[in-house]
Amino acid sequence: MGSMPLKTTIDVEDVLSQLSISEKVALLSGIDFWHTAPVHRLGVPSVRLSDGPNGVRGTRFFNGVPAACLPCGTGLAATWDTDLIKNGGRLQGHEAIAKGAAVILGPTTNMQRSPLGGRGFESFSEDPYLAGAMSAATINGIQSTGVAATIKHYVCNDQEDQRQAVDSILTERALREIYLMPFMIAQRDSSPDCYMTAYNRVNGVHVSENPRLMQDILRREWGFDGLVMSDWFGTYSTTESILAGLDLEMPGPTYIRGQLVNQAIGCGKLQEYDIDQRVREVLKLVKRAQSLGLPENAPEKTVDTPETSALLRKISSNGIVLMKNERSLLPFDKKKTTAIIGPNAAYAAYCGGGSASLLPYYAVSPLDGLQAQASDAKYALGAPGWKSLPLMTRSTKTKGDKAGLTMKVFLDPPSVKDRKAVDEIHVANSDILLMDYKNPAVKSTLYWVSLDGTFTPSETSDYELSLAVAGTGKIYVNGNCVVDNETKQRPGNSFFGAGTAEEIGTLKMNQGETYNVRVEFGTYPTMTFHTKGATGFGAGGLRVGLERKVEVETEIERAVRLAQQADQVVLCAGLNKDWESEGYDREHMDLPPGSDDLIKAVLAVNPNTAVVIQSGTPVAMPWLKDAPAVLQAWYGGNETGNAIADVVFGNTNPSGKLPLSFPIRNEDNPAFLNYKSERQRAIYGEDVYIGYRFYEKTQKEVAFPFGHGLSYTTFDIKDLSVDDDEANIVVTATVTNTGKVDGAQVVQAYVSQQNPSINRPPKELKGFTKVFVKAGATEKVKISFSKKYAASFWDEGRDSWIMEKDVYDVLVGDSSASTPLKGQFKVDQTKWWRGL
Ligand code: BGC
Repeated sequence: MGSMPLKTTIDVEDVLSQLSISEKVALLSGIDFWHTAPVHRLGVPSVRLSDGPNGVRGTRFFNGVPAACLPCGTGLAATWDTDLIKNGGRLQGHEAIAKGAAVILGPTTNMQRSPLGGRGFESFSEDPYLAGAMSAATINGIQSTGVAATIKHYVCNDQEDQRQAVDSILTERALREIYLMPFMIAQRDSSPDCYMTAYNRVNGVHVSENPRLMQDILRREWGFDGLVMSDWFGTYSTTESILAGLDLEMPGPTYIRGQLVNQAIGCGKLQEYDIDQRVREVLKLVKRAQSLGLPENAPEKTVDTPETSALLRKISSNGIVLMKNERSLLPFDKKKTTAIIGPNAAYAAYCGGGSASLLPYYAVSPLDGLQAQASDAKYALGAPGWKSLPLMTRSTKTKGDKAGLTMKVFLDPPSVKDRKAVDEIHVANSDILLMDYKNPAVKSTLYWVSLDGTFTPSETSDYELSLAVAGTGKIYVNGNCVVDNETKQRPGNSFFGAGTAEEIGTLKMNQGETYNVRVEFGTYPTMTFHTKGATGFGAGGLRVGLERKVEVETEIERAVRLAQQADQVVLCAGLNKDWESEGYDREHMDLPPGSDDLIKAVLAVNPNTAVVIQSGTPVAMPWLKDAPAVLQAWYGGNETGNAIADVVFGNTNPSGKLPLSFPIRNEDNPAFLNYKSERQRAIYGEDVYIGYRFYEKTQKEVAFPFGHGLSYTTFDIKDLSVDDDEANIVVTATVTNTGKVDGAQVVQAYVSQQNPSINRPPKELKGFTKVFVKAGATEKVKISFSKKYAASFWDEGRDSWIMEKDVYDVLVGDSSASTPLKGQFKVDQTKWWRGL
């Protein structure tokens, strides 16, 4: 790549008229993982794209430049605060500029059909209005900095199982009212510059070659005027994808365009005119990117400032949901003796797994955050919560005495004597994805890697060492093989579903003795099997773990003894990026093995226990009736631990509300019967009854309803009025803080049609606002929303939206389960409409 500055902007039509066919064809695909193709002759630079949705990783999965990490999608939506989320979007825009990227690959705007979705944490909500409002706020924030947002994954990528092959089969009504709706709202309220297509099919046709979704609906009905790119390795055809409106194949180098497009033009399957339309969108994006003035191939920088930390802390703490608080147990008193217990205490679960994950500037664990405010608080693990062993780099040192391991890269396997390393790198993180590793000496995806370091145990014990690979590998301690993931390999979930299961070896090691650890790895092409349907992975990767072997019973006993001695207990449980990740769905809704037993045992000895759950989606809570206080803290980004401590000790009065229902059991959720790919199809049998729409219709009890969230104060919502100016419904009310501390309340407005001609959900969220009210004070609130969006359903007979003549109730309150205020509006004449 050259180093052309993006100073001036191109004239799109002029450039288009001068491009040769081969230059046009080149522009239709990326050149590598994160860059579009340049045409320097005509002043067209290469543009950098970088992943969102909760931070901007930059150009490297492997040894990336650190970045700001925001809370996961559900944690952001739980703030119900569009101004705050817009600020978060703006922060992402500035982070992108620092990383030299003009395009962010986010927000993620899919729906949580089931609690088990591997990427459920990335998406905002089970409600299309809330998801649409949060997407629009994020996009408006990002695009206010000049950076382009890419709303993804359009559409119905709501599970990971066989995500490239699966056919999401659903009614047109469910597609329109639920799955397209958040994209439609974002299009109406924020005009994203780019869309990313989903991997899956919708009703038989892959989205990336689906003219109905890309041309008819997106471009014609909604008037979208920007670029559509495929998800990574999600372009599956040459001609069809171009004719259907897919502008850009990502990543590069191309595997299905390039020469094949020339061929398609040659044989008349494509006309030059067809590719011109796609190239025009690429050039428009380039022009937009140029206005940022970023140099091509820019170095990646960090902007780790106190202001960034303060904003991240605010966003994270404002999304924490106080789900239960009997006897007003929380907030805790910092001066009392506190025990901090649980698998998620010393571990900073700052984000979920997969392409959303990034190397944060720093990540505060709950233990660090809580101890910073209550310094004599004591800690016990209680139960291990990990799915894969904690990373080896947490406990090893290099020859130069740095924390981590030394990585060497070779062009020959270990069997070749005197092989020479072509690279030597220090790695601080032994979860290594080599997808975007670059080195001029490495010309193919077939090469070998070694990791070296030393380990000095702080106690004599059995230790477990583990290795999961997309490739082949072995771990040696003092020259002896302890783990073999080469001779016999088992398929597993690692590396987006392309890798092996984690193989574990056990070795007794003595306190104070220093052991030499070595890992030998061969890249993805050396793997002995390849999983059908998994995304392709270039050189693959390896994940190396090391941890003292722990017995759950012993750890629980220790934790119980600690809890008995403390005035109050903060019990930090939940999931992490290994349990919730892109590439696979969860198998059940339970906490990791041992966690429920730990929670029950601690609750039995100390009634002043607050349970803090970190997860992106719901978990089962069999101990719920015995737990006086429960907080849902999501994956909170860099400031995870500080945000939790702020709420636990009352520096922040919690104001988060659930963006999704928490069912009691997985079996209760509406997608339960249909949530896997069954020979490549997933029937959306619950139709429009997703989340609370289903629980309310079937009157099924849930653990916590959609929109629920408590506060350390109390509020009274009164004086409802509902006005109708034909285009919009305007709801006003007053909110009084009737308690003793300042706080914020979310006023939620749901709409229910009185006599619909077809079955409809009992009520649906159509507007909300969050208001801060000082103790004892009263504030007026106003919620305004589109009347046609509020009243309409999709009429399959006429293939359009219908707003029926009827009376509509407006139900207002502070949760889907508590809407005591009721107003009305009328539609005087039935009308059909299309468009935005
Ligand atoms: C994900 C996208 C992501 C892309 C690039 C894919 O695996 O589905 O969301 O933007 O990778 O990392």
